[in-house]
Amino acid sequence: MSTDLYPPLSLKIITPKLALHGATDELLAQLLPIVRDGVGAQPPYPFDDPMSLYEDNPIRERKWLQSIWRGRGNVRPDFWRLYFVVMLGEQAVGMQDLIGVDFDTCQTVTSFSWLAPSARQQGLGREMRAAILHLAFEGFGAAEAASEAFFDNLPSNRVSESMGYQPNGSNWATRRGEPAVLNRWRLKRDDWELSRRSDIELIGMNGVKDVLHIK
Ligand SMILES: CC(C)(COP(=O)(O)OP(=O)(O)OC[C@H]1O[C@@H](n2cnc3c(N)ncnc32)[C@H](O)[C@@H]1OP(=O)(O)O)[C@@H](O)C(=O)NCCC(=O)NCCS
Repeated sequence: MSTDLYPPLSLKIITPKLALHGATDELLAQLLPIVRDGVGAQPPYPFDDPMSLYEDNPIRERKWLQSIWRGRGNVRPDFWRLYFVVMLGEQAVGMQDLIGVDFDTCQTVTSFSWLAPSARQQGLGREMRAAILHLAFEGFGAAEAASEAFFDNLPSNRVSESMGYQPNGSNWATRRGEPAVLNRWRLKRDDWELSRRSDIELIGMNGVKDVLHIK
C-alpha cells in the first residue's frame, strides 16, 4: 500500500537508542513471531481486557492484526490511535502506540506499549516512551499525557514515574477476567518541558496532523 494515502505509516521518531517506525503491514509481519511466542503471557498479566495478546494461537495473531487495522480505520477528531514498531537497528522488537483521546477539545493523549521479553530491562521502555511523548508534545502540541498500569506492573509504573508523570488516582479493570487495580498517571506539558529532550527527531510529519484533524 502507498504510505502517501495514510501519512502516519511514513512517520519515524528517531532517538540515539532506537527508532519508532509507522507500523506498516511489512513491519507488523516482522513482529508476528514475537506475538506468536507470547508477549503478556506470564503473570502478573499486564493488559486489561479485551486483549488479543491473551488469545491462543492462531486466533491471537489474527485478532492482533485486525485490531491494528481497525485502529487505522477509526480516525475521528475525538479519537485516533497511531501504531509504531520499535526498531533496534533493522530489528523489530516491540510496539509503541499513541492514542488521542478528546484531542480536538482537550489535547490529551495516552500511550500503550510492549516489548519482546528478550528486549526488556535494557532501558528501551523508557526510551520509547520518551520518543512517543516527543511526538505528542512537540509534534502535536499536546497539553497532557496519561498512562495506566496495573498496580503490580513494576516496569510500566516505573517508566511513568521516572518520566515525571504524577499519580492520578486508580481504576478497576479486569485482566483475563479477574479484577485488579490500575494505577493512573498523568504528565502535564509543563512537567514534560522540564525534561524535554533535544536529541529526538521527528521525520515524515507532512500530512499527519491533517489526517488526525489536528489544527
Ligand atoms: C513495560 C515495558 C514496555 C517496559 O520496558 P522495559 O524496557 O522493560 O523497561 P526499562 O528497561 O526502560 O525500565 C524502566 C524502569 O523499570 C524498571 N524495571 C524494568 N523491569 C522491571 C522489573 N521486572 N521489575 C522491577 N522494575 C523493573 C527499571 O529498573 C527501570 O527503572 P529505573 O528508571 O528506576 O531504572 C516492558 O516491560 C514490557 O513490554 N512489559 C510487558 C507489556 C506491558 O507491561 N506493557 C505496558 C502495559 S500498561
